[in-house]
Amino acid sequence: MIKTKITEMFDIEHPVIQGGMHYVGFAEMASAVANAGGLGIITGLTQKTPDDLAKEIAKCHEMTDKPFGVNLTFLPGFQEPDYPGYIQAIVEGGVKIVETAGRSPEAYMPDLKGAGIKVIHKCTSVRHSLKAEKIGCDAVSVDGFECGGHPGEDDIPNMILLPRAAEELSIPFVASGGMGNGQQLAAALSMGADGINMGTRFIATKEAPVHQNVKEALVAASELDTELIMRPLRNTERVLANDAVQKILEKEKALGDEIQITDIMDEVAGVYPKIMQDGTMDAGAWSCGMVAGLIHDIPTCKELVERIVSDAEEIIKSRLSQFVA
Ligand SMILES: Cc1cc2nc3c(=O)[nH]c(=O)nc-3n(C[C@H](O)[C@H](O)[C@H](O)COP(=O)(O)O)c2cc1C
Repeated sequence: MIKTKITEMFDIEHPVIQGGMHYVGFAEMASAVANAGGLGIITGLTQKTPDDLAKEIAKCHEMTDKPFGVNLTFLPGFQEPDYPGYIQAIVEGGVKIVETAGRSPEAYMPDLKGAGIKVIHKCTSVRHSLKAEKIGCDAVSVDGFECGGHPGEDDIPNMILLPRAAEELSIPFVASGGMGNGQQLAAALSMGADGINMGTRFIATKEAPVHQNVKEALVAASELDTELIMRPLRNTERVLANDAVQKILEKEKALGDEIQITDIMDEVAGVYPKIMQDGTMDAGAWSCGMVAGLIHDIPTCKELVERIVSDAEEIIKSRLSQFVA
């Protein structure tokens, strides 16, 4: 057993969190991780309306009696989602943990904290982590440059970002981005984190509610197979390389700073259901981390979480202690 401030804060058995993932973080995913002793998270905005989210939360309660959370992503969008409605669904659904991401959750902190919800904010820099601490977040998920999804624009990998976060933060944090095995959990704990957050690795599990093609693509991919898109739009995203991503990169090269989001709509808008549910792997760009290079199998969430924790324990007890003279 590895007990940390994060296992205590969220009342979970293992210090392993499943980050919100568009079209992956359904009740099936969140409950499987919760039942494995980690913190599973439903992705709020994958549910089209607050009412849909309320139903997904109710479904998850039927699938687990363990704690789980909901992700609220504040993305730059054309149309602002009904965040107050989603928060109401979370509160009324009895969910006590929210993972925020994208922008600062400051505007919604009074509602969330007023309902007794613990907030873990996911961000990609020390300055944003400090801001999260200042506005009353309970914990931070520090997302390094390796991560699948949006790594921000600073490009600081976790080998530097985590010890920097440890230097500055008073609230607990977890290491996010590139995490997938016990060696990395032990390393994250060494660098001051109180646990890990994983996205990509959890997609390649038996219970992940995505097409088998997606899981197999992750097993087949190496650490060299991700690309960064939307850099010129300052909305960088790490995705798995495929034909659609190649098209985006060619447009970015051709259009340079003139590129607009509307130029790549075919490759990025509304593509997640086609990939995650239909398994059409070239339908568009989808978030994927460099950790793909460390994914070699498709275990159950319980097998994965227990393997990560027992490997980390073994490394801490046997490998690391032998070096102390
Ligand atoms: C397919 C996919 C979709 C994601 N969607 C979201 C999202 O909607 N909101 C969010 O906050 N993070 C999202 N993320 C980021 C993850 O929650 C997590 O921070 C990230 O995957 C960590 O890096 P890793 O993939 O190397 O583990 C997504 C990641 C992936 C792989």
